[in-house]
Amino acid sequence: MGDAPSMDRVNERRTALITGANKGIGFAVAQGLAATGLTVAVGARDETRREEAVERLRAGGADAFGVPLDVTSDDSVAAAAAAIERTAGRLDVLVNTPAPAAGPTRARRTPRRSTSTSSAPSSTRTCSGWSG
Ligand SMILES: NC(=O)c1ccc[n+]([C@@H]2O[C@H](COP(=O)([O-])OP(=O)(O)OC[C@H]3O[C@@H](n4cnc5c(N)ncnc54)[C@H](OP(=O)(O)O)[C@@H]3O)[C@@H](O)[C@H]2O)c1
Repeated sequence: MGDAPSMDRVNERRTALITGANKGIGFAVAQGLAATGLTVAVGARDETRREEAVERLRAGGADAFGVPLDVTSDDSVAAAAAAIERTAGRLDVLVNTPAPAAGPTRARRTPRRSTSTSSAPSSTRTCSGWSG
């Protein structure tokens, strides 16, 4: 039964992926979502900052894990989806904070719902970019 904690998470805890969550606005959003009881996946490129962010979130009581992710790379996005599936088994919320130069084209592709082949469930709620 060594896998029991992981299965509990899969069955009971909602999971949020926050891209750009190793600092700045993304980190603050991760803290806020963790405080509501969600498991938070910290998505970003820089491994050192990412793992430091995960440790800071955990130190504050969060259930957090890191996900290597470059939002401009389809391969990286696919790998991140697979990593979240393995670790949490579900994705309920996506908050996308980086706005890299290639953003506008990709931002239009990301939110499509009915034809998406993403492993995220169709009920996943998304927030993209700076809206406030
Ligand atoms: N802060 C403000 O007052 C403000 C005002 C208006 C708009 N915004 C917009 O809000 C967003 C976030 O701002 P911020 O101040 O929180 O920025 P920030 O402190 O520079 O943080 C950016 C985050 O995005 C990650 N990131 C950058 N490129 C990425 C990529 N290609 N794939 C995955 N992660 C990536 C960075 O980590 P890695 O480098 O490790 O990937 C970092 O975690 C930006 O789009 C910014 O333009 C901010």
